[in-house]
Amino acid sequence: MNFHVMTLFPEMIETAINTSITGRAIEKGIISVNTVNIRDFANNKHNRVDDYPYGGGAGMVIQAEPVYKAYGYLVNHIKLSKQDQTNFKKPRVIYLTPQGRIFNQNMARDLSREEDLILLCGHYEGIDERVLEMIVTDNISIGDYVLTGGELPALVLIDAISRLVPGVLNNETSAEFETFKDNLLEYPQYTRPEVFMGRRVPEVLLSGHHAKIEEYRRKQSIIRTYERRPDLLENANLTEEEREFLTR
Ligand code: ADE
Repeated sequence: MNFHVMTLFPEMIETAINTSITGRAIEKGIISVNTVNIRDFANNKHNRVDDYPYGGGAGMVIQAEPVYKAYGYLVNHIKLSKQDQTNFKKPRVIYLTPQGRIFNQNMARDLSREEDLILLCGHYEGIDERVLEMIVTDNISIGDYVLTGGELPALVLIDAISRLVPGVLNNETSAEFETFKDNLLEYPQYTRPEVFMGRRVPEVLLSGHHAKIEEYRRKQSIIRTYERRPDLLENANLTEEEREFLTR
């Protein structure tokens, strides 16, 4: 899977993404992260890409033209990288904005099926609306707070999406049984020693009885979700018996 990030701060993406699990996935060639500097498409010798907002107001707005040119360059670059250029379909363009749909695991799963994704990062007061109307297919927010730019949100998406791409995690099943699977939070985890400062690991986990362990973990998931994120339970995949257990 190939991520293409349109940004004014490519180094912010590059330094973060080349470490840890995503760095290894890039080395292995399972994902790639390519950055395009919007400033390279400025139409003036000062390389300025922002200007005052029409109608007045605080801050600066990124101009439509450099964004549109960067996009055209990028789409052409992606097309040329394909064996079959006749059936080329333009990739989805995700604009990171606090005005977007709030990102979640289902959206990550959906996006992980794309071959190419373009992530557009804004700064200042935003980007000229006209170019957004022309190129953006999805507006995504990472939460109800305002950041200084779209780079950290883009990194959040790349991280969450790439760990769902087959081969990125060592143990492929580890993305299967985790938090948000079935809309439940994950059960608590323990490792050695058996007793830490007087606190014992739950006895059932030492029993070697797989069915009992499964049952215990499922119950812990449900209790934890009920206590911490009751809003998730509405769409959780619970049996009649489990729903009854919660109403007790
Ligand atoms: N840009 C600024 N704030 C943001 C947020 N919360 N989510 C996505 N993009 C943003």
